[in-house]
Parts: sequence; structure tokens; C-alpha cells
Amino acid sequence: MCGIVGYVGKRDAIPVLVEGLHRLEYRGYDSAGLAVLHRGRLAVTKTSGRVQDLRDKVAATASGKASSGKGSGKGSIGIGHTRWATHGEPNEINAHPHTDTAGRVAIVHNGIIENAEQLREQLTASGVKLVSDTDTEALAHLIAAELTGDDSMSLEDAVVRVLGAVEGAYGLVVLDTKHPDQLVVARNGSPIVLGVGENEMFVASDVSALVRYTRQVIYLEDGEVATIRANDFHSTSLNGAAAGEKTPMLVDADALDYELGEFSDYMSKEIHEQPDALRRALMGRLDERFATARLGGINLDARQLRAIRQVKFLGCGSAYYAGQMGAHLVEELARIPADAEPASEFRYRSPVVDPDTLYVAVSQSGETSDTLMAVQELKRKGGQVIGAVNVVGSAIGRECGHGIFLHAGPEVSVASTKALTNMAVNFALLALLLGRVRDLSAAHGERIVEGLRNLPDQVGRILAAEAEIASVAAQFAGAERMFFIGRVRGWPVAREGAQKLKEISYVHAEAYQAGELKHGPLALISPEMPSVVLIPSDDLVAKNISTIEQIKARGGPVIAVTSADLPEGLADAVISVPKAEPELEPILFNIPLQMLAYHAAAKLGRDIDKPRNLAKSVTVE
Ligand code: F6R
Repeated sequence: MCGIVGYVGKRDAIPVLVEGLHRLEYRGYDSAGLAVLHRGRLAVTKTSGRVQDLRDKVAATASGKASSGKGSGKGSIGIGHTRWATHGEPNEINAHPHTDTAGRVAIVHNGIIENAEQLREQLTASGVKLVSDTDTEALAHLIAAELTGDDSMSLEDAVVRVLGAVEGAYGLVVLDTKHPDQLVVARNGSPIVLGVGENEMFVASDVSALVRYTRQVIYLEDGEVATIRANDFHSTSLNGAAAGEKTPMLVDADALDYELGEFSDYMSKEIHEQPDALRRALMGRLDERFATARLGGINLDARQLRAIRQVKFLGCGSAYYAGQMGAHLVEELARIPADAEPASEFRYRSPVVDPDTLYVAVSQSGETSDTLMAVQELKRKGGQVIGAVNVVGSAIGRECGHGIFLHAGPEVSVASTKALTNMAVNFALLALLLGRVRDLSAAHGERIVEGLRNLPDQVGRILAAEAEIASVAAQFAGAERMFFIGRVRGWPVAREGAQKLKEISYVHAEAYQAGELKHGPLALISPEMPSVVLIPSDDLVAKNISTIEQIKARGGPVIAVTSADLPEGLADAVISVPKAEPELEPILFNIPLQMLAYHAAAKLGRDIDKPRNLAKSVTVE
């Protein structure tokens, strides 16, 4: 998704902007640009390439090598952008920032302006020559038109007036040559966070762009506009109502969390961070005395927890599969009916909202538009919803008001690994808590508490077997398609395994319930179609062994991922998983599947952290 950075202070703005954009690269983008104010004029640099190209272009301009006459110069106020094309192809002209014809106003914008065509037609009819295909350019012309000829008009007022005529989603930052000490920012559906420094202010669409400079941040609410200067800021609501006093909060990440260290990419780093991420998720949350869990972020007492008659998890992509794992855990431990649904479907299907159901909105970023909309729909209909998010202060976290903080630490790679694992372990805690206010015995609770405590070391043991998993991945990476087969507890894990393989290696992967194979998909089994079969050590081992035999009988290669003792020679390759409490084994089974996908993608030479067509947080429809 697009990324925004802005700076006002005493430093040379360009390095701050370029560094910020570099930190946002992981979100996915196709072009980049920046504008700084230099000697009263806008200096704009854009590229249809990577942030490194932008860095090179700016450096070349600074040393007088570029001869375009435009380009960047030193300035202590500026805005930057990484674009993920929505209106118009990803080329230099469509890259942000966009300016008005006179080059007075520059704007960077995330989101989609839905009435852009209408605004563009109005501008063209009034004689404005639009140079790009974007929705954003229209805003630059409209803001400049508000300001021109009225010296008493503040930049903020001009922005507010224009936004009054805009339909759609935005997070935006505006720079005006005639208001050289300030940036105006606004938010409606696309995240914007302000960074408060010593005599300097930052703005970005994601804290990762700020933490190198400051950890004091303020999240702008939807419908808010703010003016930021080096020494102060104020915000108001776009509809004129004054916004409450905003106190900066300390973000729980620092620049080191975003460094690769010894790893070649973030996915590998984040896979290996899982034991620590799990320890953080469990810290202070296991109550040994009463064999239950403590989840202080949920504002429901025992009586209210008992009154819950159903639990429904809502999320998208991997967060949805984590929700499916959560639903199994809740049904098993609390004996409450539970299921999961993609939030992207839920929001559009006029759902029946039951006041006695606990809805859990699951999201790593806390900004996924589909999940946020599902939460808003639920709240409109009187549903009880809690968040399960990894980013404090994110839109979904704030909209829900209470819930479970995932504690995975910043996740940069597009493919979710440690956040998904922490989602699943947090749902085990939730299931334990719900179980223990109901019929789950203390003995059973103790078994789960002990099992949870063992998880970080068990994950560590799986990670230690990376070389063997990598060699299995290398053996099968040439396949054009693969099946991931799971049964009951293994089914959501199989779905997540298939998702991980396809998104980063581009190998077509499909997940099936083991029992469904014979009802159709068995027709696809052939020596060219390997199957990854999950065999936890539960009471379905024999059934899963016969699934493998069915596949082998039709010439299909099998990779068995198992914590059980399988007959010698049953599968073509075996990946072992430590035995755990059966309810918790899915959490462990997910780890080798991440590594299989990772090493298959590495073998195929894929850009692992930036898979094609994908973005880290999906804040548009
Ligand atoms: C897959 C992946 C996506 C996200 C999905 C939801 O590896 O990362 O499927 O899980 O886009 O994102 P969040 O959790 O931020 O709501």
C-alpha cells in the first residue's frame, strides 16, 4: 500500500524523507517521490522505480549532475510518498507528490477519492490542464484554487473546504509554498501518525518511518485534520468540532526492531523471532494457581464472560486462518460454538448480529479496511466486539476499545509469520479463560497452561531443524502445484500453509480437508502433484495415515509433517514436530510450513519480503 512521510524542523528534510520512505518499502509500492521547499519554491523529485532510485536522483541533482531544472534542493520542510497504483499506471508522472499548475501546493495522498472523475471534469472545464491520471492531482489544484487570491485563508481551512467536496478514503499531507512553516495533514480511512520530536515534527502512514527519530507519537482519528509546525501542532475535526487534547504516546518499538541484523530478509528474521514473540505473548498471562489465563485488555468480568453463547472470529487472509484456529480452540476448551469468517465477506452480507456472541476482530496491522468496516458494522448493530491486534493505537484497536494485544513486535515482511503465531497463542489464552469460567476442569486447565509454557522452546526446536526443512523445500520447489491436507485441527493450518506457499513462491497451492479428498480433488493426484499432509498426534492419526496411503496409491509424492510415529517409508519426506498438548499442536505445525514456503521461494529466487501484487496492510477495498 502507499506510504506517506512528512517532516518539518531544522534538519535537511531530504534524508529524513528518503529514510522514512525506505522504512515504508515493505508495505509494497511501484513508484516514489518527494517534494521539499527550497528558497520559497517546491523542488519535486519522482521515480517510477525504487526508493534507492529516488535517493540516487536526489543525490545527482544535489551535486549538479541532473540537468532537468526541477529536482530537489536542501530544505527543512517536505513530504514524500511511495505509491501503489490505483488511478493510472505506475509511472513517474502519476507518482506523488502532485502539485497545482503554478507549483504552489504539493500533496501526497493514500486511499482512493471516489468522486475523482467528477472533480477532474470540473477542473478541466474550468481550464485546468491535468497532467496525471490520478485522483490526487485534482486535490492539489482544488486546494491551490482555494488559497489563490485570498491571503487570509489558512492552509488548513483551504484543505478542509476541499475535503468537504471529496468522497472516499484518504490520509494526506499538504505543503504550501506560502505557508512555509507548516504541513496540513488529514485522515479519513487511511492511517496517519504524527511523530513529536525536539523542535521538529514528523508525519507518516506507519510508525516504522518515524521510530528512528522519535518514539512519541499521536494517531490521528478518522475525520481529523491537523496543522503541524516544528514546535507545535493542533488538530480539529473535519466537520468543525474541536478534537480533544492529544497527548503523545510512547510507541513500543524502536529503530533496532526494523534492522535486519544477521538475516537476509525480514521473513526469515521474523520466523526466527517466534520463540521470543511467544514468550512476550505469554508473559504475565498464565495463572498457574487457578489454571487459567489473564487477559487484562478484555473488559469483561467472569459473569459477562459466562454469558457469551458464541464466539466469532473475523479477519482477512492469514488473520482469518488464525481465527479459524481460535474457533477450534474455543470450541474444544470452552465448549462454546465458535467459527471464523473472512471480514471481507462479513461486511458485505448483511450479517445477523447476535448480542450474546463475542466477535473478535483479528488483525496484525489493525488497519485492514475490510476488518475495520466489519467492526463498524458490528458496532452499528449492537454487537460485542473485541480486537486482537498487533499495533497499539491502530484503527481497529481504537474502534474496538478493548481486546487482546498480540505482542508479536513489529512485523515487516508482507507474509505474516510471527503475528499469526501470536494470534493463535492468544486465542488459546482466550479459550482457556472462557473454558475456566465454564466447565473446563482445573486439571485440564493445568495441562493447557503447561503446554503453553512449553511452546516457545518447542518452536525453537523446529527452527533448529531449518537445514532439513530447507532440503525438503528444495526437493519439491520445482512443482507447479501442491496440495496441503489437514483434518479437523490441522485444517486451518493446511490453509495457512497453502496461502504462505502461494503468496511468496507463486507455486499454486490448495488446501483440502483430508476427508474431502475422495470427494473430488483425488482426481488431481499424480506424480507431478506433491501433497503436504499434516498428522498431529491426536486420535485421528490412523485416519491421516490412510489419507497418505490413498495419495501414494495414485502416485502422488507426500511430505508428512507430523508429531506422531509414522510407519517407516510411508511418506517421501518427513518433517518432525515436537509432541505437544493436542489442542496446541496446530500452533507448532504452522512453523515448518512457514519454513517450507520460505525455502521454496528462496530456491525459486523470489523477492521474499515483497511478493508481487501484494502489500503489507490493505487499507483500500
Ligand atoms: C498473509 C498476510 C495477509 C494478511 C491480511 C490481513 O501472509 O499477511 O493475508 O494476513 O492481509 O492483514 P492484517 O492482519 O494486518 O489485518
